[in-house]
Amino acid sequence: MKKRVLSAMRPTGALHLGHMAGALSNFVRLQNDERYECFYSIADWHALMSNYAESSNTGEFCYMALLDWLAVGLDPEKSPLFIQSHVPQHAELALALGMITPLGWLFRNPTYKEQIENIKNKDLSNYGFLGYPVLMAADILLYRAELVPVGEDQSAHLELSREIVRRFNNFFGEGILLEPEPLFTQTPKVPGIDGRKMSKSYGNSLEISEDEKSMWNKLRTMKTDPARMRRTDPGDPDKCPVWDLHKVFNHDEEEKSEIAAGCKCAGIGCIDCKKKLNAKIQDMMTPVRERRAKYEGNKKLLDDILADGAERASKAARETMSFIYPAMGLLKNPKRCI
Ligand code: TRP
Ligand code: SF4
Repeated sequence: MKKRVLSAMRPTGALHLGHMAGALSNFVRLQNDERYECFYSIADWHALMSNYAESSNTGEFCYMALLDWLAVGLDPEKSPLFIQSHVPQHAELALALGMITPLGWLFRNPTYKEQIENIKNKDLSNYGFLGYPVLMAADILLYRAELVPVGEDQSAHLELSREIVRRFNNFFGEGILLEPEPLFTQTPKVPGIDGRKMSKSYGNSLEISEDEKSMWNKLRTMKTDPARMRRTDPGDPDKCPVWDLHKVFNHDEEEKSEIAAGCKCAGIGCIDCKKKLNAKIQDMMTPVRERRAKYEGNKKLLDDILADGAERASKAARETMSFIYPAMGLLKNPKRCI
């Protein structure tokens, strides 16, 4: 029996190289490992929980996420790729879990507290936002997933899912829901073009969908060690965001030590250093762009992938729900198949 893996991402627009080197490379690795059966979901309801006031681009963002996923190598034959709202059982199970989730757990959730305090440009006093972890628990528990690859920032949410399982099973029967384990894998911290963490909100990203020219333009104009005013001024790679990117994307150790030495003695110029970085990044992006080209502009193909993903996910989801209703004491609709 393969271990089930479920993960999801909110559709927030174009994904960047930080997502690619982090979460997505992990998704691909798990998908290609025979020991696992993976389900990957685009969590559009989760996006609405905080973006309900400007939700009109959610659908477009779902297509963008799907394209980025396919481009980095997620294979819809191997893993169902689906949109959360296309499998209505996510909403159904979230409602069911809401019956037993104490409000105190949600108000005490550190992620909730932090976001309520820090995000001032949106009104997050809505019921849905408070219930974010309940829907996330439903996403996972619906597939009886054993493993959930997530970033450390999701660990409180995962722990809440586990607590919800224990409380649910306590009320309605041991073994009905399965306690998921988080899978925190070491992923490189990817800096953006300004040296801070790569993030859409900082405007310092290199996007997965970006073409070579536009990426090179960003790299070419990056700030470097300010000590290197002129070509003949020596510098220190540790004070340079270009070097931070070399550390993540350049795996040629010999070249890297040459660059570091060349920087310190002004033996290499910043433009050459950036060209070497660019070459590595473009090599990495070539297969990604080739895969993307197969899908880009082909809405019909993307819709077929999503329809197939939702159908396969639904099958698993319906099976779980068929236990939930009777366990909770609800009368089964005799006309509903399962
Ligand atoms: N909350 C996750 C994030 O913001 C996305 C997510 C939604 C998720 N449902 C999930 C992750 C289920 C793992 C499992 O990154
Ligand atoms: Fe940065 Fe490279 Fe210039 Fe050194 S040579 S300052 S590492 S861009």
